[in-house]
Amino acid sequence: MRLRLQDSRVYKVLIINYMECGIFCIFATLWQNYTFRSLPILEISTFSETLGIIKTVNKMIKEKIISAYELMAEKYNELIDHKPHNAYYDRPNTLQLLPNVSGKIILDAACGPGKYAEILIEKGATVIGFDISPKMVELAKKRNKEKGTFFVHDLSSPISMIETNSCDIVLCALALHYIKDWTFTIREFHRVLKDKGTFVLSIEHPFNDYIFFKSKKYFEVENAKCTWKGFGQPIEVNSFRRPLNECITPLTDNGFYIDKLVEPKPTIEFEKLDPRHYKELNEFPAFMCIRAIKRIGDE
Ligand SMILES: C[S@@+](CC[C@H](N)C(=O)[O-])C[C@H]1O[C@@H](n2cnc3c(N)ncnc32)[C@H](O)[C@@H]1O
Repeated sequence: MRLRLQDSRVYKVLIINYMECGIFCIFATLWQNYTFRSLPILEISTFSETLGIIKTVNKMIKEKIISAYELMAEKYNELIDHKPHNAYYDRPNTLQLLPNVSGKIILDAACGPGKYAEILIEKGATVIGFDISPKMVELAKKRNKEKGTFFVHDLSSPISMIETNSCDIVLCALALHYIKDWTFTIREFHRVLKDKGTFVLSIEHPFNDYIFFKSKKYFEVENAKCTWKGFGQPIEVNSFRRPLNECITPLTDNGFYIDKLVEPKPTIEFEKLDPRHYKELNEFPAFMCIRAIKRIGDE
């Protein structure tokens, strides 16, 4: 129908209708946005913003961890052969969980300056090692001369350079406490291991960390930090404190069974170098070592 603009009655009615319609539309839009859209949109954006903040914070923590290890790498390498907590506490207890390594392919994840690799190569293993700290990787290469393969890599990224079902053993010593969520890393270890392959790890003991960091949230995985004074200048080291359950479930939920768990004690050499900590470690564990085996099928 064509409107005759000169027809003022029709014009008025139309204007009123149009205004009513507009007001109705405005109210309807506001109401709909408020009831059906605004709230979820607000929730979604808050959720994604929170996720974004968490990611940024975790990235910052990772950068701090890298800087700390870059800073201490030389000194760490210099001391690692005889530093009591490593040489006479972690290493003997972790190494005793490995099967015979001769002729085996071992992935040394977070290899540091390659001390474990050196021992394992000496025993006849082929070692592939990686670490997030470029300086650590350089030192691992230097320590092991032409033997072994070492590269810079992050435990939380896909180890795509390593084939599926290609390793006999994965070793991850004193490093998983730098990873907040273990799921992805454990799945990657599971992927690269052959069936029934062995995964050996050592970490800071969850009970010791709970006390040391004076946590009030046992069941949470929390960012924790402390200052290390044993590697030259004082260095702040960030890590993630976690409950025992968060050390076991990521393994059992992702294709491993726990074969052995060790709450280590220091060897006698420790006592001569550091009698105070020797006594303490004989009373309460600071580390925990686990041997897990890759399950096959529905095992
Ligand atoms: C305490 S040192 C242990 C080194 C070696 N496994 C050993 O026991 O001699 C921890 C190592 O983990 C490495 N690291 C920390 N976060 C990492 C990550 N996200 N990916 C790979 N390596 C990491 C550090 O650079 C450091 O070399």
